[in-house]
Amino acid sequence: MELIMTSASPVAQFGDPAPPHHTYIAASYVKFLEGAGARVIPILADMPPAEVEKRFNAVNGLLIPGGSQDLRPGHPFFDVVTQLFELTLAANDRGDFMPLHGTCLGFETLAVIASKNHSILGSFDAENYPSPLFPTDKAADSDFFSALPSEVFDNLTKKPYAMENHVNGLAWTAIAENPVLVEFFNVLTLSVDRGGQAYVSTMEAINYPITATQWHPEKNAYEWTLDKDIPHHPAAIEVTQEVGNYLVGQARRNRHRIKDYLDEVDMLVYNYKLVYTGRAKFEGEEVDFDESYFFPPWKQVEAELEEKRQRRAAA
Ligand SMILES: *[C@@H]1O[C@H](CO)[C@@H](O)[C@H](O)[C@H]1NC(C)=O
Ligand SMILES: *[C@@H]1O[C@H](CO)[C@@H](O)[C@H](O)[C@H]1NC(C)=O
Repeated sequence: MELIMTSASPVAQFGDPAPPHHTYIAASYVKFLEGAGARVIPILADMPPAEVEKRFNAVNGLLIPGGSQDLRPGHPFFDVVTQLFELTLAANDRGDFMPLHGTCLGFETLAVIASKNHSILGSFDAENYPSPLFPTDKAADSDFFSALPSEVFDNLTKKPYAMENHVNGLAWTAIAENPVLVEFFNVLTLSVDRGGQAYVSTMEAINYPITATQWHPEKNAYEWTLDKDIPHHPAAIEVTQEVGNYLVGQARRNRHRIKDYLDEVDMLVYNYKLVYTGRAKFEGEEVDFDESYFFPPWKQVEAELEEKRQRRAAA
């Protein structure tokens, strides 16, 4: 019997709802991966490059979540995602299959990095705007959509089951204007914002297992934010489940392993507290996530891990 131990890494970011100097991951991304059979090892935005690389080599897949971060070099989230992107290309180039997916902010970050153009994103009126996906001629043959059951794909194209919640985005025209991006990504679907502007809603790299959705597959099943129209129809929940199955299925094709079981235990997200952040909504604060994981500053996490290692060595 083969023991399948697939792990996937979402990247934690600074900002609301995390306390000062802490990073967070909305728990919906963690549940999304866990629901498809992966365990989660976080990569923190304030980790130094050596630790980012160590975790890259430990996990089987990467997820760049949504949120709001400064997408310029010198900003921690952007720099970590840039490093992960480069490690992903290098790994795949030498035959080490490593999948990477970006959602919303993750999509936008990948668009900036792959296009090498820091002004590629435009403004869109698509906050809280679940939408259908309009497939291009590349969609049907893509890895991403051909892996979904055809009814799920069909429902995504006919019903507003793709939860869109963004103010930045990639204009349909920006693709044509940026040849570097055209060479890297196939545009699989477009969507339209409230003002009728078309933007890229799904893309897949031509030569790498890299996918990006401007929409949020994880929210349908796992976020119940009071003031948002997140689709919760059973068919929309199936979208969450099938996209999760696709991403974790890709991660199962990767052979990265962590040698020391206790090192692995130390890295898992289970070591961190799950906080009911959605509660703040009832108390009048702006919070988009029902539950979140908070991570102390990396220096503190690192010191705690080192202490655990030394205690084990002494035992
Ligand atoms: C970057 O993308 C924007 C939006 O498509 C475009 O107007 C601009 O010319 C691009 N810049 C470069 C240097 O290619
Ligand atoms: C597609 O949507 C319809 C109606 O919303 C639903 O009855 C059907 O079960 C859905 N199919 C899948 C595979 O989710």
